[in-house]
Amino acid sequence: MTVRRWLVTGGVGFIGYHVSRALLSRGDAVRILDDFSDAPYPTAMKRRNADDLRREHASVEIAEGSVTDAARVAPLVEGVDGVVHLAGLAGVRPSFADPARYVAVNVEGTATVMSAAQATPTAKVFVLASSSSVYGNATPLPAAEDAPAVEPESPYAASKRGAELVALSMSRKAPAMRVPALRFFTVYGPRQRPEMAITLFMQRMLRDEPIDVFGDGSMRRDFTHVSDITRGVLAALDGAPAGFRPYNLGSGSPISLAQLVRSIGEAAGVTPETRHVAVPLGDVEATYADIARARAELSWAPEVELTRGLETVRDWVVSSR
Ligand SMILES: NC(=O)c1ccc[n+]([C@@H]2O[C@H](COP(=O)([O-])OP(=O)(O)OC[C@H]3O[C@@H](n4cnc5c(N)ncnc54)[C@H](O)[C@@H]3O)[C@@H](O)[C@H]2O)c1
Repeated sequence: MTVRRWLVTGGVGFIGYHVSRALLSRGDAVRILDDFSDAPYPTAMKRRNADDLRREHASVEIAEGSVTDAARVAPLVEGVDGVVHLAGLAGVRPSFADPARYVAVNVEGTATVMSAAQATPTAKVFVLASSSSVYGNATPLPAAEDAPAVEPESPYAASKRGAELVALSMSRKAPAMRVPALRFFTVYGPRQRPEMAITLFMQRMLRDEPIDVFGDGSMRRDFTHVSDITRGVLAALDGAPAGFRPYNLGSGSPISLAQLVRSIGEAAGVTPETRHVAVPLGDVEATYADIARARAELSWAPEVELTRGLETVRDWVVSSR
């Protein structure tokens, strides 16, 4: 049997670690490109992910470098069957502090890696990590992929929509290449980025510290466990049709921040103490995925209930203390 080979950009980040591990576990060959950047959280966590991947799968190749560096990317796509492009600067709030860097990494980086993929005869698929943030506040909920996504609330959201539009336009040149753009809805789970709400809240509750809740807690989010996202990435890699096509990967069951806090409290075994703070610039009022397209075309559906998912975060936070 021939081994399938993939380039996974951002492969030592949160989602990248899980996707790389799943590909390696099913016997595929994985090459990772990651710059181990210090944003939006410390490099040490990426080194740990890289070490854990190498320990479990000695065959993994990990290259250090930027997705904006065409000369660095070119040799890494040689001979691959496709690319999973997860590298990017994540995070709505920090994107206001450095919008130019977000645009460079997320938009230029996508164009650079996709150009390299298109120049590689063996590469048949380019999976793009996009985001629910492309919908902003103006899209009717639940958000469907064909709804307009033209009023981003942050430079991060704009950079993700920009990356999608660049990929859409570039796919006209090579229409046979499969280019699923996966709009992830707030992903959580073990190894989650430390600045994200679920990790922060869990850490603080386990230390009996109060947590800051944005606004009155009515803001809603569609939380999706990283194992469901990983299955969705593999389903798109293996089964998405030719051409550019966006897919929502979400739970389809949004909950309020207040409900999230109660559920984390239950998982942590504590009664949460909360402080209310202003909603930061760029955060949308609600995210809510219409997941009919991913169900129909990728045979994908989320499986991890929030209660069970939060237990995996608790176990991870406790074991990494
Ligand atoms: N986690 C979520 O809730 C979520 C939601 C929607 C979309 N996304 C997208 O999914 C992807 C992965 O997100 P994540 O949560 O795993 O974030 P992450 O920050 O853990 O992973 C991103 C990885 O990209 C790497 N990277 C950053 N700049 C790079 C560059 N110039 N060259 C090479 N590598 C670079 C980082 O070092 C990191 O390892 C990102 O594109 C993000 O925008 C994430």
